[in-house]
Amino acid sequence: TFPGAIRNFCIIAHIDHGKSTLADRMLQLTGVVDPRQMRAQYLDRMDIERERGITIKSQAVRMPWTIREGERAGEQAVLNMIDTPGHVDFTYEVSRSLAACEGAVLLVDAAQGIEAQTLANLYLAMENNLTVIPVLNKIDLPAAQPEKYAEELAHLIGCEPDDCLRVSGKTGMGVDALLDVIVRQLPAPVGDVDAPTRAMIFDSVYDTYRGVVTYVRVIDGRIEPRDKIKMMSTGAVHELLELGVSSPEPVKSAKGISVGEVGYLITGVKDVRQSRVGDTVTINARPAKEALGGYKDPKPMVYSGLYPIDGSDYPELRDALDKLKLNDAALTYEPETSAALGFGFRVGFLGLLHLEIIQERLEREFGLDLIATAPNVVYRVVMEDGKEATVTNPSEYPVGKIAEVHEPTVRATVLTPNDYVGAIMELCQGRRGVLLGMDYLSADRVELRYTMPLGEIIFDFFDQLKSRTKGYASLDYEVGGEQQADLVKVDILLHGDAVDAFSAIVHKDKAYAYGTSMAAKLQKLIPRQQFEVPIQAAIGSRVIARETVRAIRKDVLAKCYGGDISRKRKLLEKQKEGKKRMKMVGRVEVPQEAFIAALSTS
Ligand code: GTP
Repeated sequence: TFPGAIRNFCIIAHIDHGKSTLADRMLQLTGVVDPRQMRAQYLDRMDIERERGITIKSQAVRMPWTIREGERAGEQAVLNMIDTPGHVDFTYEVSRSLAACEGAVLLVDAAQGIEAQTLANLYLAMENNLTVIPVLNKIDLPAAQPEKYAEELAHLIGCEPDDCLRVSGKTGMGVDALLDVIVRQLPAPVGDVDAPTRAMIFDSVYDTYRGVVTYVRVIDGRIEPRDKIKMMSTGAVHELLELGVSSPEPVKSAKGISVGEVGYLITGVKDVRQSRVGDTVTINARPAKEALGGYKDPKPMVYSGLYPIDGSDYPELRDALDKLKLNDAALTYEPETSAALGFGFRVGFLGLLHLEIIQERLEREFGLDLIATAPNVVYRVVMEDGKEATVTNPSEYPVGKIAEVHEPTVRATVLTPNDYVGAIMELCQGRRGVLLGMDYLSADRVELRYTMPLGEIIFDFFDQLKSRTKGYASLDYEVGGEQQADLVKVDILLHGDAVDAFSAIVHKDKAYAYGTSMAAKLQKLIPRQQFEVPIQAAIGSRVIARETVRAIRKDVLAKCYGGDISRKRKLLEKQKEGKKRMKMVGRVEVPQEAFIAALSTS
């Protein structure tokens, strides 16, 4: 295919604005999927994606489209549609998918209007110099207000309301016209066919049967099936086992792929870390001198301890994490032990959704029952003697004289109907947010921009936002820098011993609230012992809250009035059973359920 006939585009949209449905319709219209094999959300491969209706991994599809107008009418264009993940945690993947395109279809639900991720994705598209085609979707809905939202959209990107296309991914209305506009308005790829090859990896997926499948966009030169390829970030050289295009099923390419084309390659590597998103592929025999810009190592932002409820599942948990890692370059973990929870792992995630997805996959696909400790961010602690520590687990907070603590921040964008501005400001201020600016997108829709500590966002912020705005506000954020803050570590002590799973790093103004609520919660959950058990919350050696579990003398047999021996035995058995699930914190016996209950409601 000559570059002039190629159009590389992606669809960007807020979650649920209908990206997958529109993509399905395009597959059908261009004839690449047989109507009999068509199923909803054809491109979302993982079950969990389909069930939650979200797209985690991007995919690329090549579709032919016959030009219907102008000089080239009757000629075939090649459309490469690159599906992008829609959630904040995967911004880096989105930005790589965008970098593989010349244009973006900006899809907005005609019954909802612009939302936070519409904006975030639009800004990313603009940073990548993409041509943006504004499209209102779901115009078949009775509640659709295409006129109103065309104004909003036109105002946002600086075009005329009439330039916004109107489509329905569901009925297919207007989708053929959209394909025409894609061919007409998007620039063809430009690149140097004769230069040393440079192709950018925009996705890398582990497949049980084929190993890692790497999706690339050729920028310069070409890749042929017999080439030996080289990864520019690591210098690793691989033989190509297969080279092809997805349409959307994989089709081997005998001729190879050239400037502007999008394809996949398989080299037999078994781990996506060896074929990383953002890296540049070149040909070993004639390597490019300089890699394409923009490569970033994925960096975990949120950590949580994951422990099997049944301690004997630990090896299974390790195997499951090893397997998930093959497909997820951003997942990191290392073994950790906790006095309260036993053997587990400290796992690093890109964000909260990433955490939720991994936890759910571990439970569902691998049948594991897990406890997760409260998520925390990464802190940088500077001591008075100048030494520094990076803290990914509150229980490893350094002791000694601390000079400064730094925490990561985000730039958050909240979009909301006018009526909820007050409620949102109150929420954000309570979370140490600093207002950066506020803009009216239309008479009744406001954009609020904040700098906020990431640690405050991962703690039920999204739920609070939704409940205070009846679900109308939307949130997006990107990683900001770090800031110094008045943070302290609060320990929870049982009979003088700290329970590692409950240590938390919190702002000093919130330390007291955290300490009293945790102590009160545990007081209700911990059974009485033979002796009195004080529960204390402390910052260093200073106790800030205290509760007490009073002593009892427990005699289970006292309840059975002599007689029935089998009943007595049953009761003793039951008690033994219970003991197995007891954890010792110092001298105190605590049923594991108490820890689970305390963690799940915190
Ligand atoms: P993510 O992948 O999670 O970002 O979602 P998405 O943008 O791909 O949305 P999806 O295609 O899953 O559609 C979300 C919901 O809107 C689904 O229930 C669709 O059936 C519905 N939907 C999508 N397009 C249309 C449309 O044109 N009209 C109507 N009435 N409903 C639509």
